[in-house]
Amino acid sequence: MDFIQQVEPYITDLEAKALTSYLQSGGWLTEFKKTEEFEKSLAEFLGVRYAVTVTSGTVGLYLALLAAGIRPGDKVIVPNYTMIATINAVKWTGAEPVIVDIDPVHLCTDLMTVKLDRSCKAFIYVSINGRSGNMNEVVNFSRRNNLLLVEDACQSLGSLWNNQCLGTFGDIGVFSFTPHKIITTGQGGLIVSNDEGIYKRVKKLKDFDRVAPASDWHEGIGYNFKFTDLQSVVGLEQLKIISFRINKKKEIFKRYQDLLKDISSIKFLPTDLTQTTPWFIDILLPSQVVCDQLMVFLKQHSIGSRPFYPPINHQKPYSDYPKGSFPISESVAYCGLWLPSSIGLADNKIDYICQTIRKFVQESYGGS
Ligand SMILES: Cc1ncc(COP(=O)(O)O)c(C=O)c1O
Repeated sequence: MDFIQQVEPYITDLEAKALTSYLQSGGWLTEFKKTEEFEKSLAEFLGVRYAVTVTSGTVGLYLALLAAGIRPGDKVIVPNYTMIATINAVKWTGAEPVIVDIDPVHLCTDLMTVKLDRSCKAFIYVSINGRSGNMNEVVNFSRRNNLLLVEDACQSLGSLWNNQCLGTFGDIGVFSFTPHKIITTGQGGLIVSNDEGIYKRVKKLKDFDRVAPASDWHEGIGYNFKFTDLQSVVGLEQLKIISFRINKKKEIFKRYQDLLKDISSIKFLPTDLTQTTPWFIDILLPSQVVCDQLMVFLKQHSIGSRPFYPPINHQKPYSDYPKGSFPISESVAYCGLWLPSSIGLADNKIDYICQTIRKFVQESYGGS
């Protein structure tokens, strides 16, 4: 059997045909009509007024904070369990990240662990792997405390809470289009908001802060964080089949869950598939040792897997935040594994992966 990657992009003839026809049309490749169409389609899909593409999810988070006026001296709340980009974006603005712990049920911020002071200006809520806590509580908490709510929904395109798209509850939402996401344009990000002021500031900042589109007069030191029509052509094709892409992720999750449900040492997080589109298939193991051993065993059987993100405060750039202060994230992060999760993953491969996991459990614990 060929090596099964933990994840690989799902690209079909649709993108190839659309790209060929775009390239033959004399388009300028850079951001223009196709990007406008992509942004409009995404705004419709998500149910928001404004959607602006940028070069990555990380840049999206950074611009979102800048556009909302976050500056050095401000504090921004971030979870200790997330991809490092969340906290890096805060550091880029010069603001100070305030790290908080997560809830073991959904692995997103535990509101009870947030300690506020007057400098706290924003709250980045990360919906990890398409799951979230009660978003009404998140919104109310932010309003009550005068916090700008930025949703890091980089892993949540196609996921809902109470039938509303994640990424659309806060003042600003941010998505990512890297190769392992629900739709991918290689790199790329999206900022969404219902606030016209935020939308206008993001549009200007990403295009050199021009006083007006195409003008060579500039109001400030802006950026070039523009998208390209080449990427949009690819994204638009994937958006046409987004229901298929979403359903595949859900089916894959369900198949793993069904095949592994009787093994007590392997746990799945509670996942409502009517709302959540799991980006990665995540499982929890009894300890870091077992997790590491399973990864090695899977690799020996030609199966790729990936450990959860390390806790932020165990990462070198953030080692000033004391170890042991965030007990949930500091333990969960070492016991989780992402199994092969590609949209194109065939059923017989999932069956093989699950048989291999079962073999590992039998050899290690005699079966349970
Ligand atoms: C939660 C989260 N935030 C931010 C990012 C950064 O997105 P990008 O890689 O597009 O910069 C990612 C990427 O995977 C992510 O998972």
